[in-house]
Amino acid sequence: MSVETIRVSTGWLDLREGADAAARSRELVGELGRHLPASGVRVIHDLACGTGAMGRWLAPLLPGRQHWVLHDRDADLLDVAAARCPAPAADGAPVDVETRCSDITRLTAEDLAGAGLVTTSALLDLLTREELDGLLDICVAAGCPLLLALSVVGHVELAPADPLDARVAAAFDAHQRRMTGRGGLLGPDAVAAAVAELSAAGSQVLVRPSTWRLDGGEAGLAAAWFRGWVAAACEQEPELADEIGSYARGRLAAAEAGRLAVTVGHADLLALPRDGEAA
Ligand SMILES: C[S@@+](CC[C@H](N)C(=O)[O-])C[C@H]1O[C@@H](n2cnc3c(N)ncnc32)[C@H](O)[C@@H]1O
Repeated sequence: MSVETIRVSTGWLDLREGADAAARSRELVGELGRHLPASGVRVIHDLACGTGAMGRWLAPLLPGRQHWVLHDRDADLLDVAAARCPAPAADGAPVDVETRCSDITRLTAEDLAGAGLVTTSALLDLLTREELDGLLDICVAAGCPLLLALSVVGHVELAPADPLDARVAAAFDAHQRRMTGRGGLLGPDAVAAAVAELSAAGSQVLVRPSTWRLDGGEAGLAAAWFRGWVAAACEQEPELADEIGSYARGRLAAAEAGRLAVTVGHADLLALPRDGEAA
């Protein structure tokens, strides 16, 4: 299966939604609130929305009537997103959604016409540099704030620590940066690349950590994440599978029992248009 056709499951997105919500930067939302259109319906485009977790988290934190346009290439995830509309806005104003099934790397300026805010989460690290630059050009041209959340930054910490952790982490990072039919993926380099592109375009850029800190209370997510982490590392370096067999079994049992604390670094990025360009 090519990387282009790999699908994200609703089960995985459900499992991570709570940890994502806890990790997302509220400080950036405070800043964002000062740069939204003062009145009228705020039109918010969430790119690669999955089941719509960003809207469920953000809509109730923002005031005023909101219309969310949810974009994804996966029609099944969009059906779930449409069925799970966000709660009303912070001041009780109504929030509604529409869905658009499309490839967000092919968005045009017309697709984002009238946007008051563009958001995305857990997407940038899946893109190539060319795809990221093209997408950001379209977003910047929309002249509104951009909230780009939960990009991996390549920092993983497990407690208690094991000497093999660093070996697996290096193979995992290499997998994130692997070459595909679309080009090399950005993986942990996505945030730096986005900051460079947006700054060059004249945006004001703020970056804040949005780190997952999973303890015993998140054993299901920690175990699922660990399985995916090791599988990606072994796909990248097949010889690793023999080397880390007993390490992986022991770590997984500890994660399932809530005895493995997992820290996964992410970052949220808010880009604000130059003065006078806000929609
Ligand atoms: C890791 S999930 C994140 C989903 C959601 N943003 C969240 O934070 O829960 C990545 C999402 O990006 C979507 N996606 C990836 N590449 C895409 C593309 N080129 N066009 C549209 N959607 C894409 C996938 O279908 C998936 O829903």
